[in-house]
Parts: sequence; structure tokens; C-alpha cells
Amino acid sequence: MRLLVTGGLGFIGSNFILSMLKTYQDLSVTNLDLITYAGNLENLLDVQDYGNRYTFIKGDITDKSLVNEVVSTKPDVLVNFAAESHVDRSILDASAFLKTNIIGVQTLMDCCREYGVKRFVQISTDEVYGSLGADDPAFVETNMLKPNSPYSASKASADLLARAYHKTYNMDVVITRCSNNYGPLQFPEKLIPLMITNAIQDQELPVYGDGLNVRDWIHVLDHCRAIDTVMRDGKSGGIYNIGGSCEYTNIDIVRLILTKLNKPFSLIKYVQDRPGHDRRYAMNAAKIHDELGWAPSIDFEEGIDATIKWYIENESWWRKIKSGEYLDYYEKWYGNLKK
Ligand code: NAD
Ligand code: DAU
Repeated sequence: MRLLVTGGLGFIGSNFILSMLKTYQDLSVTNLDLITYAGNLENLLDVQDYGNRYTFIKGDITDKSLVNEVVSTKPDVLVNFAAESHVDRSILDASAFLKTNIIGVQTLMDCCREYGVKRFVQISTDEVYGSLGADDPAFVETNMLKPNSPYSASKASADLLARAYHKTYNMDVVITRCSNNYGPLQFPEKLIPLMITNAIQDQELPVYGDGLNVRDWIHVLDHCRAIDTVMRDGKSGGIYNIGGSCEYTNIDIVRLILTKLNKPFSLIKYVQDRPGHDRRYAMNAAKIHDELGWAPSIDFEEGIDATIKWYIENESWWRKIKSGEYLDYYEKWYGNLKK
């Protein structure tokens, strides 16, 4: 199988490429990534071991002539991870989100159509469904889309576009919608790696609002295995929820991390809430389980221990990131949140 992966230098994409190359001998990957602030060549240093089974191309998924050139090599499948992915940054400025997350997807799908790529896999998110109340049932694939942030609105737009390309052009498209991922190589702007690295540095741990928002956590490798399953066996035009069935409040996650690192709870600082902050996400993943046989396999306690260990052992990876542009962003965002 010849895979074209877009956005493969980010958190989930790099974990996906590593696990696919390791699992399948008869598979090669071309990775097209712009190397934005979130893309990191260091994430895939290990793929050198795979010789000509891995090719990297630097470029933008909105650059039609480049995408045409890359897609003209006729990969079997395109898996699109490329996106602006951080909600808080989308609140500061939505421009890049609309460009990459919507126009980028249109560009990729147009080129796939032109060159007859057999399948297009769009990596989407639970955030397209909006927010749940404490007693609401978990999201199912038939729920209405009610995105609340510029980020989730851009992802929902892409989902609708993918659906339309399937209906209009009979293009083979599958969409995966996953809950919050954690694991190695996650950029330290997201809750879990931010809290681990701030705690290691004895810095404040900023908790939005009352800290009682709930997320449904899944280990990134369980997500990658689900994507592989959908990519191979998902029904054309199908949408598949993916989740860990593992709901935690943010404050419980933060306290767990501090406890495991033997750091004091006094590092916790409640700050002003994120505007439009979704209260709760929870995924009903019965469809992917019943239709395709996938279920998460990594226990949260074990996964979080391994993740904390990874950040302790890879301090130079995240210390390099936590400089320059990151510090400017940190100051701009957290500097404006009243304590
Ligand atoms: P990330 O921010 O870590 O990585 C995004 C990658 O896309 C980076 O390598 C970046 O350089 C690349 N990129 C951005 N704009 C590009 C462009 N115009 N052209 C080419 N490459 C570009 O993101 P992530 O957390 O790995 O998420 C990957 C995908 O999964 C996203 O589509 C996101 O919406 C989705 N998702 C993420 C989560 C999560 O918990 N992180 C959960 C569900 C779905
Ligand atoms: O649910 C899937 C989504 O998960 C993905 O689509 C997004 O790409 C990914 O960024 C993530 O979005 P969230 O907004 O849920 O993740 P984040 O890590 O930014 O925040 C998780 C929760 O923690 C959320 O309720 C906000 C809160 N939070 C976050 C940060 C960064 C804090 O309380 N303090 C913080 O400093």
C-alpha cells in the first residue's frame, strides 16, 4: 500500500506514520507537511531506519500546483491530518484555521479526484458536535453538528465538504471523529503535555474556569489503530466516532499529573475561562466497534504513566519547543486571562 499522509509531522500524524511503518512491511509513506509551529522534523527522526519506504515533502496543502504534483504519483490512500489544531489559537485569530482546515481539504480532495486516488480519509474531531450537558448521552455519528469555536467550525466545514464530495462526485471518502488524544510527541500547548511540562518546570498550571469541564481521553496509539481500521475497512462515505470511554474533569487530570510528579497542588492557578468553552465531550464508539471490530486497548492510568515518563525522558524535545514563538503565544494568550 502506498500512503500519502498530510500533516505527518504533528502529534497524531507522526505517531500514525511510525506505527504504520513498524506494523506493515509492504507499506510506504509520503508525508507532505508545511512544518508550521506545530510540525517538527525531530518527531520522525527514527524513520530513517525505513529507508525508501518514507519520503518527506515540505509544502502547503492549500498549494494546488504542489498538491497536484504530489498526488499525480497516484498513492492508494490519502490520510489528512494537516490542520491548525489548537482551539485557543483559533480564538486569537481564525484566519489560518479557515485556510488550512477548509481550503486545504478542498484542494486535497480536488487533486485526489483528478488522479483517481482510491480513498480519502479525513481526520476530524468530536468537537464538531458541540458540547454535552452532564447527563446527556455520548455523541453518536447522527448528531447535529454544532461547533462552538472557530477551530471546530472549520473542522465541521471540512466534514460537510467531504460529505458533499462523496455525494456529488461519488468520491470514496471516510471521516473519523475522535475525542481528546494524549501520548508522546504532543505539542505542549495542549492540556496534558502543558501541565506535565509546566509541573516539571515548577511553573503555574493554568486551569480555565472552574476546572470541571470534561474530556474523553484516548491514547494516540489507540486512535492510530482506529484510523488504520477505518482506512482499510470503513464503508465509503462513512463517518466513524472514535473515543476512549474515559471521561475526566480537567482538574482531576491536573491533580493526577501533579500527584504522579510529586509536585504540590499549590502550582494550580485557576484563570479566566476560555470563551465558548465546551463543557463536556463523550463519544459513543459503538459503530466502529460493531461494524469494524475496533476498541481502545490502552488503560488510561498506564497510558498517562508512560506519557509522563516520555516527557521526563525527552526534556530536550519540549524545552526546544518552549522558546521563541511558543513564548510569544503563551504571553499573548495567558497574559490576557485574568486570574
Ligand atoms: P498538530 O497541530 O500536532 O499537527 C498538525 C500538523 O499539520 C503539523 O505537522 C503542521 O505542520 C501541519 N500543517 C498545518 N497546516 C498545514 C498546511 N497548510 N499544509 C501542510 N501541513 C500543515 O495536530 P494533531 O493534534 O496531530 O491533530 C491532527 C489532526 O487530528 C487534526 O486534523 C485535528 O483536527 C485532528 N484531531 C486531533 C485531536 C487531538 O486530540 N489532538 C483529536 C481529534 C482530532
Ligand atoms: O476533542 C478533540 C480535540 O481535543 C481536538 O480536535 C483538538 O485539536 C485538540 O486541541 C483538543 O481540543 P481541546 O480544546 O479539548 O484540548 P485542550 O488540550 O486545548 O484543552 C483540554 C481541556 O483543558 C479544555 O477543557 C480546556 C482545558 N485547558 C486547556 C489548556 C491548554 C485548561 O484548563 N488550561 C489550559 O491551559
